[in-house]
Amino acid sequence: MRINGRDYRTIWLDEVGGQETGRRVEIIDQTRLPHRFETLTLADSDGVARAVSDMNVRGAPLIGVAGAYGLALATQEDASDAALEAAYGKLLAARPTAVNLRWALDRVKALLAAAPASERIALAFAEAGRIAEEDVACCAAIGVHGEALIRAAAEANPGRPINILTHCNAGWLATVDWGTALAPVYKAARAGIDLHVWVDETRPRNQGASLTAFELLSEGIRHTVIADNAGGHLMQRGMVDLCIVGTDRTTRTGDVCNKIGTYLKALAAHDNGVPFYVALPASTIDWRIDDGVAHIPIEERSAREVTHVSGRAPDGGVTEVQVTPEGSPARNWAFDVTPARYVTGLITERGVCAATEAGLRGLFPDLAR
Ligand code: MRU
Repeated sequence: MRINGRDYRTIWLDEVGGQETGRRVEIIDQTRLPHRFETLTLADSDGVARAVSDMNVRGAPLIGVAGAYGLALATQEDASDAALEAAYGKLLAARPTAVNLRWALDRVKALLAAAPASERIALAFAEAGRIAEEDVACCAAIGVHGEALIRAAAEANPGRPINILTHCNAGWLATVDWGTALAPVYKAARAGIDLHVWVDETRPRNQGASLTAFELLSEGIRHTVIADNAGGHLMQRGMVDLCIVGTDRTTRTGDVCNKIGTYLKALAAHDNGVPFYVALPASTIDWRIDDGVAHIPIEERSAREVTHVSGRAPDGGVTEVQVTPEGSPARNWAFDVTPARYVTGLITERGVCAATEAGLRGLFPDLAR
């Protein structure tokens, strides 16, 4: 990704002191975007857990990588079994819906369990680094497979841009680089395909309006921010060629859990014959469950995210205003589940498959259990 003319990833390692105790994790602080570009230094596992739950870092794949680095930082604090178990629990509890967090923590934990305490720091940082690199490679591959779908749409509709609708932020800010849903957009745009992105604002936290718009602007991709409720209308008018969204947890049968409001977009797409694709790395698949509505825990966040919005004030500062009357209660479910029957296909690092158990097993026979 390129921000203000400089190449960035969303998370990286900073070595301050010696190799064994001085590592810190740097992140782009996503709570400050799009109005301020600031980075944040995380020096311990508590800091990582806080950054995940306060959404300074967010997006399913990035949460996984941050969790892995959090456990690595914990080895610098105390590499005993008991201390690492406590850090694991604290990091896992930071956000409940995205399964990538547990997947990445389990990977680091399994490696450390088999190693003496004296080797754990080096092993943990190396594994967290590997998880980060694999995420970049997965997302780049998702981009290649998804680009083929956009190219097919462009060939079927010569002489006009392809209109893609996306929800929330499943771009490079939600991963280490490239993104999931937006990787195909970036690959297609770099290949010269004429396209335009409809960006759902994504209330209550506005990840579409603030983060996806910021990314697309930085990449020079033509886009338009729309109110969350506009998607159905645009689909009825033939103004959307395909939807591509991300997912925080995918059941082995192809149900997808993504940012609240995704389900309504899938229903509108189904009613209007608009293809509805979901992009994901395999780390997002929860092979243990087959019914997303019944079994995926849905995070409920503070009602303040609904009652208040933040944005840039006329004086240039970032401010928060209240949109509801004082005293009206509010609720804030952060995710919903789209049943597999509304998903046209899953775009993964190994190719595109049907949103079915057979489809996922066909691509990932080594991971399915
Ligand atoms: O609550 P967030 O901002 O972490 O939610 C992010 C999403 O819902 C993304 O669509 C999801 O993580 C997809 S993966 C890039």
